[in-house]
Amino acid sequence: MCGIVGYVGRKQAGPLLLDGLSRLEYRGYDSAGIAVFREDGGISISKAVGKLSNLIKKTEGGALLPGRCGIGHTRWATHGAPSEQNAHPHVSMHGGVTLVHNGIIENDRELREELLGEGFRFYSETDTEVAANYIEHCFDRAEGEPKQAIRRFMERARGSYALAILFQGRADEIWAVRKDSPMIIGRGEDGCCLASDVQAILKYSDSVCYIGNREIARLTERGISFFDEKGRTIEKEMGRIEMDGRAAEKGIYPYFMLKEIHEQPAAVEETLRSMLRDGRISLSGIGISDSALQKLRSVWIVACGSAFYAGSALQYGIEALAGIPVRTELASEFRYRKPLLSSEDLVILISQSGETADTLAALREAKLRGASTLAIVNVPGSSIAREADYVLYTLAGPEVSVATTKAYSAQLMAGYILCLALARARGRLTRAEEERLTGALRELPEKISLCLSLSDSLSGIAERCRDARDVFFLGRGIDYAAGLEAALKLKELSYIHAEAYAAGELKHGAISLIEEGVPVIGILSQPELFEKMRSNMAEVKSRGGCLYALFMGKDKELLSGTDGSILLPETEPLFSASLSVIPLQLLAYRVSVLRGLDVDRPRNLAKSVTVE
Ligand code: G6P
Repeated sequence: MCGIVGYVGRKQAGPLLLDGLSRLEYRGYDSAGIAVFREDGGISISKAVGKLSNLIKKTEGGALLPGRCGIGHTRWATHGAPSEQNAHPHVSMHGGVTLVHNGIIENDRELREELLGEGFRFYSETDTEVAANYIEHCFDRAEGEPKQAIRRFMERARGSYALAILFQGRADEIWAVRKDSPMIIGRGEDGCCLASDVQAILKYSDSVCYIGNREIARLTERGISFFDEKGRTIEKEMGRIEMDGRAAEKGIYPYFMLKEIHEQPAAVEETLRSMLRDGRISLSGIGISDSALQKLRSVWIVACGSAFYAGSALQYGIEALAGIPVRTELASEFRYRKPLLSSEDLVILISQSGETADTLAALREAKLRGASTLAIVNVPGSSIAREADYVLYTLAGPEVSVATTKAYSAQLMAGYILCLALARARGRLTRAEEERLTGALRELPEKISLCLSLSDSLSGIAERCRDARDVFFLGRGIDYAAGLEAALKLKELSYIHAEAYAAGELKHGAISLIEEGVPVIGILSQPELFEKMRSNMAEVKSRGGCLYALFMGKDKELLSGTDGSILLPETEPLFSASLSVIPLQLLAYRVSVLRGLDVDRPRNLAKSVTVE
């Protein structure tokens, strides 16, 4: 969480830092701040609580902080409430060090105690101020040598950090270091820059480079030097950026989320296309062999948030088609459960950002335990992509809205591809069946487009949900998994309590919450479960629930007794989540708009969660 930026060059840093931060705001928006070296060698700092627009106003778009070298930060509070005092940049006690931080210093209490003993005093509750003071303390002992000071800090600090640091008296350089939090460095015509994410520096860089874990960098107007944790110079190649900057603009849409919802047909199509060779699914591009797939004993799918729900929907297809046991785990649970893994197990990590701390830790745990690891990731070059044995990229393009939509859909597609490849390698798929299923995948983008056109028919349900206290989603199997994602979307965007229930489980407790008018949305895409679903929905209706059905198939009988229904295009039942989720994303979007909320930046959330 939190986004950091830095710039040193010929241009004015202030406006550039604010522009960079505006592209990182998805990482947190509790407060923001910038620090810029003045001509006289001093440092001007400005901070504001709340969204970045407050800081932009306060600094008149950066104009009030003239200077050509600076750093900036947008915060998602971990240590200390969102206040100006706790906002970054933080300054060390004697003003020698000014820095911004993404991550968590886990032993900050221990370091704070030590520094208090040395006479340091603190003005904030943050672990970041501890880092600033500790580096200043080391800087003094290292006789003013930034690299040595950073190295000493690295020896003592535990946890994760990406730091951009200004040292007093070195007005034309930025120092950077990272451990387990992302950072990318760019070089452009006018100078050098750094950020938590490539989006922030796209406009200002011709070439970029990921700074490795435990590496240090020094940026000046003229170029970048890299050092390893022992302080030795290292050579790193800068690569070209192959990304369309327009993806980070809203275009004709009022919100990024709506734009990204509409980009789903393309995201899904591109992801499929990248894995087709001569019309057949092929994993040759990612380097995993059929013999490796044949030997597998089990598959684990590990992820957080919506990526976990994508995995929850995918597990059914992998078990049914590839005939291999699948276990789906939350990354934050998996990493501490001492999973029994061997080289015959495949752990699939799903992550849009490729930086989620828990998913990254789960990946490392799986590798340590000898399993093969395959990452389904959207951001090229991200930590998870770099560390996994195999990577299957989703080609959703940059996703800006905090609530994911197109990345989730692309993750489903990547999972189906994997599922077919596994089933084929394990001899469980005839050629005819493979062709039929691949054909069904090819049709998905068009059917997703049809689902997008259902938007207007959701207005009644959206109105009904707008002032509801609770909303329930009911489903069985894959429909339950789609319901989990739908409930997450609704609660994160509308702040309404929403819950998905496995339809058969409702009667074991949650049915007590059903009373007159409570909206309940049944998802019905699995023909062999229709009958059972109908009974469960009748149980809701007879208790006064306001019942809607999201429905695939021809049996209109299923709709009797509902207060409204949405008919979905038909697809292979194993792929149905790709269609049922679309109207449910649109529903969450509509309810959020009706309630006048900030669709793209729901409260308390961040898109990339780089802390535990
Ligand atoms: C956050 C985001 C979710 C996302 C989850 C996992 O909670 O708000 O939209 O699903 O992190 O992120 P990842 O980048 O690993 O997919």
